[in-house]
Amino acid sequence: MTKIDVLVGLQWGDEGKGKIVDVLTPAYDVVARFQGGPNAGHTLEFGGTKHVLHIIPSGIFHKEKTNLIGNGVLIEPRIFRGEIEELAAKGVDATQNLLISQKAHLILPTHRMMDAANEQSKGGAKIGSTLKGIGPAYTDKTARNGIRVGDTLSPDFANRYNALRDQHIRMARTLGFDVEAFRIDGMTLAEYEREWMAGLDCLKRFRLVASEYFINRCLREGRKVLAEGAQAMMLDIDFGTYPFVTSSNTITAGVCTGLGVAPSAIGRVMGITKAYCTRVGAGPFPTQLDDETGRLLCEIGHEYGATTGRPRRCGWIDIPALRYACMINGVTDLFVTKPDVMNDFDTVSMCTSYRINGRETDEIPFEYNTAPIEPVLTPYPGWKQSLDGTPSYDRLPARLLEFLAAIERGTGVNIAAVSISPDRKDVLFKQ
Ligand code: GDP
Ligand code: IMO
Ligand code: MG
Repeated sequence: MTKIDVLVGLQWGDEGKGKIVDVLTPAYDVVARFQGGPNAGHTLEFGGTKHVLHIIPSGIFHKEKTNLIGNGVLIEPRIFRGEIEELAAKGVDATQNLLISQKAHLILPTHRMMDAANEQSKGGAKIGSTLKGIGPAYTDKTARNGIRVGDTLSPDFANRYNALRDQHIRMARTLGFDVEAFRIDGMTLAEYEREWMAGLDCLKRFRLVASEYFINRCLREGRKVLAEGAQAMMLDIDFGTYPFVTSSNTITAGVCTGLGVAPSAIGRVMGITKAYCTRVGAGPFPTQLDDETGRLLCEIGHEYGATTGRPRRCGWIDIPALRYACMINGVTDLFVTKPDVMNDFDTVSMCTSYRINGRETDEIPFEYNTAPIEPVLTPYPGWKQSLDGTPSYDRLPARLLEFLAAIERGTGVNIAAVSISPDRKDVLFKQ
């Protein structure tokens, strides 16, 4: 019996999860997504080419490995089909090594419309959703109205689809939303629905499985499974900066419900953090820099959403938030990405605690969204050199090693590896 290893984001997403999963995949037999959906954008780079995945697990480029979309994931068939076709154009035939849980829920075109309607109705308090239908589809799942991948094979699928669509249209109108004027990718609802149904035909060509049995059989047989998270700790529905969060449990606990494995089956937990911090969409971000340094992080780090293209807000690494993330996720191994973005900085800072109304704390307060949080920063001298070609972890510049050691002290977790470029080949493991 092997245990399932887990890889999760520790900040507000976009830590480089996709890249690290791709790098780790050779050591695993199966890579399984357990939550989220097309709101995710996971970037992989190798051979001079960049690939962005949204629904499909980041192990897909390793032909001999099995990839699984678990029951906790939301699938939008048209986006799914687009990804499959893009992969095919790159010579990757995902029909060979991608399995899909029968219990994964579908995002309908009208879930996307409801996402837009809900955001519109929030006025100035918008979440900044990716508008992929995530919130409404998880809402229908928990309200027991959802449609699962396996349900599409049942004779009453058309009736259920139509009933749910019509319900969404009524709800949108109640919110004062202009259904007729609504467009998805330039298409009316009816036009998009046709494309969506074609996506569903594509989806049905894949192996739709009882993934909980598949995963547990793998573990019993001693195969190695890596669970790939999407979004991140601070966007978790329970422990993130609610309501500025996504609608799933992004944390390690989500692996149990999103794949059907027991808590005792969890093995190593790899937590990914940038050497700084970013956030896209609305919500609190205590270490955000609205200055030239923030602008430089965004520009040098190419901090634009992989799903929406929106610029990401940038700031210093936040140790109280990271320590919280390590606690909630049970992180055993830290992966730090993108220190190279700060190669030219004179000073690199780290937030070690918060000052709130004159009181210092290193915990995440309930009033995170509303309290005037002032980050207490510790400055570190920059390493002021390129990291290109660094042959091993211990050969990183001494000042960067000091900064990394401070992250380890602050979080109480050892760093397993550091990533120093977007490319697959540039990950330095510690030992
Ligand atoms: P994910 O959502 O966690 O998979 O991360 P994204 O793909 O949304 O964003 C991470 C971005 O950083 C992508 O553009 C990656 O190519 C890039 N990236 C990953 N690791 C590194 C690194 O170590 N250095 C640099 N400069 N870029 C990196
Ligand atoms: P990856 O997997 C960064 C953010 C959105 C918004 C909030 C809710 O690439 O790290 P949703 O579409 O879920 O209703 O949006 O969460 N968000 C992400 N931010 N990376 C992501 O995924 C994200 N997925 C959602 O910007 O603030
Ligand atoms: Mg991303």
